[in-house]
Amino acid sequence: MDQYEIRYAMAPDAGAIAALCSSGFANVHQSGFLPEDLAAFCQQQYSVAAIQADLEKADRFYLELVYGSEVVGCLRMGTPTLALAKPDLSGIELARFYLDAAHRSGGWGSGMLKMAEAESSKRGFGQVWLHVYLPNIRAQEFYYRHGYTKMGEEQLVFRQSHPTGLVLRKRLVEAVPASDYSVPGKTE
Ligand SMILES: CC(C)(COP(=O)(O)OP(=O)(O)OC[C@H]1O[C@@H](n2cnc3c(N)ncnc32)[C@H](O)[C@@H]1OP(=O)(O)O)[C@@H](O)C(=O)NCCC(=O)NCCS
Repeated sequence: MDQYEIRYAMAPDAGAIAALCSSGFANVHQSGFLPEDLAAFCQQQYSVAAIQADLEKADRFYLELVYGSEVVGCLRMGTPTLALAKPDLSGIELARFYLDAAHRSGGWGSGMLKMAEAESSKRGFGQVWLHVYLPNIRAQEFYYRHGYTKMGEEQLVFRQSHPTGLVLRKRLVEAVPASDYSVPGKTE
């Protein structure tokens, strides 16, 4: 629909992105955190100042979904922080992927993911990594449908809380199967 647009986020969008990340993360992680830890985590990671500073760094980018003039979704791509992803020098990590509930299941999340993957590929990255909380089955199904595969599990440790999630990865350029190569002039 015409009112929707996926675009690169800029510093003035920090407030809207901070709000989406705080409510999105808190909803997904209710069961894995002590309430006071969850509040402290969101305060620390998703304050407007923290997001604004993050938006200005060159090694990462954010996409946002805009409906009319309102930012209703966000996604962040940045240098890997996951233990499984860090050794992958051509890897980039997807995080902070949240759509406002009223705008989900309309294909816009898929559109944002595809744009993030295309931009990552353009920047020379070969793999996308991400962490998805174990009970978040719907998001896992979404990523599997988009070609991600399970690489392992990792626990996030914050104060007294330690939720576990799956680590998923997708290769951005699949290897061409040997049978697809043909040698000119050779007929078998
Ligand atoms: C995951 C998410 C970004 C996908 O965006 P989207 O626009 O809903 O995605 P699409 O419309 O392209 O695909 C829809 C699929 O997303 C998945 N999904 C994951 N969480 C969902 C949720 N809370 N509500 C609706 N769909 C969800 C489902 O597999 C859904 O398929 P369905 O509509 O057949 O049930 C979005 O649904 C969302 O913000 N979910 C809640 C937060 C979350 O889980 N983020 C990922 C953290 S790792």
